Amino acid sequence: MADKIDEIIDKHISVQRDSLLPMLQDIQKEMGYLSEESINRIARALDMPISKVYGVATFYDQFRFEARGRFHIQICHGTACHINNSARIIHEAERLLKIRQGQTTRDGMFSIEVVNCMGACGLSPVMAVNDTYYHGIDPNDLKDIFDECKEKINRI
Ligand code: FES
Repeated sequence: MADKIDEIIDKHISVQRDSLLPMLQDIQKEMGYLSEESINRIARALDMPISKVYGVATFYDQFRFEARGRFHIQICHGTACHINNSARIIHEAERLLKIRQGQTTRDGMFSIEVVNCMGACGLSPVMAVNDTYYHGIDPNDLKDIFDECKEKINRI
């Protein structure tokens, strides 16, 4: 993992020194999140305080600081989904899993990400669990969906 982080840093640093943002984006794309190690390595490579790298990364909603769960839940909060009460779905998912968006449950089972338009506005509100999409969902559907995920793990 450290080699991959360094490879991404070297690629950007050789192009221009103020390439912090693309560096963060590439590392997240590769690793799925920005680890403490990656933040530290970037700060060292750019000769920049760690707090500044964190400051930039936390300014943008796109960055995660925890690994995704085995079941990564994406809830759309684009305009059509927003109109169809996606806020209630986000709230219920956070309540049931006891985490906030951008976080992962302690057991590493679930993570929640709020995203913009998933391209199925006519079927809103839309949610995905890994590669499975759910359309026209209601907050009351979530418990069963999450229970199914847990059952899948128990069957393995
Ligand atoms: S706004 Fe949610 S799918 Fe388009």
